[in-house]
Amino acid sequence: MSDYKYSTLAVHAGQWPDPLTGAVNVPIYATSTFELTGIGTDRGYDYSRAGNPTRDRLEAALAALEGGHSGHAFASGMAAVYGLVAMLKTGEHLICSHNVYGGTARLLNLIIRNYGIEVEYVDTSDVEAVRRAIKAQTRLIHIETPTNPLMQVTDIKAVSELAHAHGVEVSVDNTFLSPALQSPIALGADVVMHSTTKFLNGHSDGLGGALIGTTAAHKERFHLVQKAAGGILSPFECFLVLRGIKTLPLRMDKHEVNGNAVATFLAQYGERTGKLTRLNYPGLERHAQHELAARQQRGFGSMMSFDLGSRDAAGKFLGALKLFLNAESLGGVESLASHSATTTHMAIAPEERERLGITEGLVRLSVGIEDEEDLIHDLEQALDAV
Ligand SMILES: Cc1ncc(COP(=O)(O)O)c(C=O)c1O
Repeated sequence: MSDYKYSTLAVHAGQWPDPLTGAVNVPIYATSTFELTGIGTDRGYDYSRAGNPTRDRLEAALAALEGGHSGHAFASGMAAVYGLVAMLKTGEHLICSHNVYGGTARLLNLIIRNYGIEVEYVDTSDVEAVRRAIKAQTRLIHIETPTNPLMQVTDIKAVSELAHAHGVEVSVDNTFLSPALQSPIALGADVVMHSTTKFLNGHSDGLGGALIGTTAAHKERFHLVQKAAGGILSPFECFLVLRGIKTLPLRMDKHEVNGNAVATFLAQYGERTGKLTRLNYPGLERHAQHELAARQQRGFGSMMSFDLGSRDAAGKFLGALKLFLNAESLGGVESLASHSATTTHMAIAPEERERLGITEGLVRLSVGIEDEEDLIHDLEQALDAV
């Protein structure tokens, strides 16, 4: 399978016909348990928390798309992050990108720190800052790139080389670009993490998460976490992600076209009216890490954020949108707009949010696959209303 090109993998990896019936689509094995063939013998499955054929197929597809050794499907993106940090022990040190999805920070701050694991937030887009932060107890560097919602880009190759020289592993949250636009493992990362809720599923109809490891030890560890802690994805949700993955390359092509068109429009509108500032989209040449993004990504995607100056202006804009829905989440076929400070990053203290740049006027867009002119028209009329 690994010899095939990306869009072939999206349709076929993990998705071979059902051996029992020849069904072209992966069946939903809605069963909690499996008949054993004797004492201590089975047909490959005994209990669905430990393994389920539908989940196996999704996990095979995820491993193939990311070029990893094994895939592991979890109940949500957060369950996947929890599974990842479960590999750490008391006294160990975790470095995490300093502006990450607020839910990741909530998990690390309110739960993981209580286990005696030291969590340090570092601007991972500054490789020297990462170098200074590494110490003898450092076990893992967790990168989100581009970050949610400020679209900061970290050099995965440079951080991976630095980490490996110190015996430290690197995990990358690849949710914002999906394996269609970024391959962290090919750039040197050890583990890829996803909220499959987003682009991989692509239809905003189910939560899910994934870890893709690169070694037999990762496979053993992440499978143990699935079996022991039980935060696994149900067979039905696995089916939805498998179905979504088949059209991932096509959807990402359209997300890419629309993302670029919307960012270009917003840049021009901002220059003309001064109503919006700090347009964060790595596809724009003026983005601080545009060259790095162009080098390590296969596109710039359809996520972006900008500042309307105040909470009031952001509220007016969101209220005036007709096509974009005022909703958190991202990566679905429909376009969404959200106010980061009161949704995805609510768990971050207000002073810390301001310090990071997640201001009261910041709005994040997830540009869908609708007609680009309709989307631009909607944004223009809502901006005019501010
Ligand atoms: C970058 C990123 N990582 C992880 C998550 C968490 O995923 P989930 O909502 O599926 O738990 C999100 C959710 O928005 C996210 O944006």
